[in-house]
Amino acid sequence: MKIILGADHGGYSLKNAIKDHLIRNGYEIIDKGTNSSEPVDYPEYGHDVANAIVSHEGDFGIIVCGTGIGISIAANKIKGIRAALCINTTMSKLSREHNDANILALGARIIGESLAFDIVDTFLTSEFQNGRHKIRIDKIEKIR
Ligand code: RB5
Repeated sequence: MKIILGADHGGYSLKNAIKDHLIRNGYEIIDKGTNSSEPVDYPEYGHDVANAIVSHEGDFGIIVCGTGIGISIAANKIKGIRAALCINTTMSKLSREHNDANILALGARIIGESLAFDIVDTFLTSEFQNGRHKIRIDKIEKIR
């Protein structure tokens, strides 16, 4: 499975830790940056990862900023993207099972590294349940 990563300066350190964690667990990674604590603008990284997902460069995206809020708002502007900001494993499990989320958003100033790894692992191993949830996803996709 190929995962696209992106973060602003607030999220780059957690993004790098997640990258190492995923590589250790056999995932392929495309890292869209940023790669330093030099201030950058989170919309660019949210957009880059979102565009990479809709153009099938990878299977899922993981985006990180300080809170996870700004970068998820930016990613969700791209049609076909369902970015879910999660602060626990229940949210990341249900974001896949019910919402068919294709991007996980995390806040590096909100959660610690070990919880982030659990949230990521849960997200990547949970599956969309289809059925009644598919009808709702189709309705989201029709919104312009
Ligand atoms: C950057 O200072 C910060 O605003 C950003 O990382 C994020 O928290 C925005 O939602």
